[in-house]
Amino acid sequence: MPECFAMDHRHRVVFEHDALTAGTALIEMLRVGDAPARTLFVVDDGLVASRPDMLSTLDTFARTHADIITPAGHPLLLPGGEACKQGTDPGMTPVVDAIRSRGICRRSTVLVLGGGAVLDAAGFGAAVAHRGVRLVRMPTTTLAQGDAGVGVKNGVNMPGVRGGKNLLGTFDVPVGVLNDPTLLTSLDDVHWRAGLAESIKVGLVKDAALLDAIEQDAAALTNRDLPTMTRVIERTAALHVAHIVDGGDPFERERARPLDFGHWMAHELEATSDWAVPHGEAVAMGMCVDLLIGEAMGITESGLAERMQHLLRELGFLQWPVRDVGPDTLLDGLEHFRQHLGGELTVCMIQSPQHAVDVHAIDAGAARSAVSTVLDVNASGV
Ligand SMILES: NC(=O)c1ccc[n+]([C@@H]2O[C@H](COP(=O)([O-])OP(=O)(O)OC[C@H]3O[C@@H](n4cnc5c(N)ncnc54)[C@H](O)[C@@H]3O)[C@@H](O)[C@H]2O)c1
Ligand SMILES: [Zn+2]
Repeated sequence: MPECFAMDHRHRVVFEHDALTAGTALIEMLRVGDAPARTLFVVDDGLVASRPDMLSTLDTFARTHADIITPAGHPLLLPGGEACKQGTDPGMTPVVDAIRSRGICRRSTVLVLGGGAVLDAAGFGAAVAHRGVRLVRMPTTTLAQGDAGVGVKNGVNMPGVRGGKNLLGTFDVPVGVLNDPTLLTSLDDVHWRAGLAESIKVGLVKDAALLDAIEQDAAALTNRDLPTMTRVIERTAALHVAHIVDGGDPFERERARPLDFGHWMAHELEATSDWAVPHGEAVAMGMCVDLLIGEAMGITESGLAERMQHLLRELGFLQWPVRDVGPDTLLDGLEHFRQHLGGELTVCMIQSPQHAVDVHAIDAGAARSAVSTVLDVNASGV
């Protein structure tokens, strides 16, 4: 009996300005055969609130391309932010329901526009309804355009379970990802800078030149210069996609998770603060913790933690108020991370920019001291 079959995956990530009004790439991602394909728009309500013309722009887009797509009813709005991945009725439920009731099949498409949380919830719904329908993503935050939206994962949080962040989810390669930098101008400052935490992460792990560029352009980035931000995000996304396509482990079967650098504490902090600390802020703190642990354990070159702390501060991080969360609680994050990996603890540490190494044991004293130091640094910035 034959045992093996192979599947090719194509992971398309395209950057295009004014994609809905002047672009060509998005409609090609939505094309299915010769007849107009049913398309369900799922939209982040925070995006709509900050861009009141968004729904009419989508309507015009659909009318302009009526030969290629037929909208499956009005756009489905999901609450923006972690709320849509939470609770007993996370955002995937209305997505699954809309897929069922509005006649979305495997020759139709779900087009989701939003931040990483809405992309995650809608992506999970699209991946499980009818065992998977076509998904096209339009990420609308810096973090989603460089990181969350250009990967091949989705997920929602397991209700009522500590350590349940992203516990329910799948690996699923979207039909395409369209990053339109013009959508970033309506972000608040917190979410404007959030993606830079992931850019610094990928720079530390894979590209020293990206780190240097962020340092040189820190003032322009803080002053919301869109071309500078776009360059940083394009490089971040390219490194992320190259890791998935060329890294040999697209569906993370191995223990090594270089792109999770700084994330064990970040996830714990987000969850224990009941999502009051946004992902980018938490990752900034988590990276500082891992750099300090690395220095204390003799892994990380001396001075790198201070250099990154300075850069992150300049960009506006490390001053988010963290209330009622102590080091002991956050240290549980290591155990939750081990459980998430399903066995042996494997934490990515940085020797020097672009030189990462996996470690399987973390010195408990160094971890406690690093977490306390970063919480103090953070509190002093408020
Ligand atoms: N699947 C993955 O591989 C992956 C990777 C990294 C992070 N994530 C997830 O991504 C989420 C964080 O995503 P995020 O940082 O994009 O934030 P977010 O999705 O929480 O969105 C932040 C806020 O910005 C609003 N918003 C979105 N686009 C906007 C725009 N253009 N203008 C104005 N407001 C806008 C949203 O409504 C929300 O209030 C977390 O849930 C995290 O777990 C997933
Ligand atoms: Zn992240």
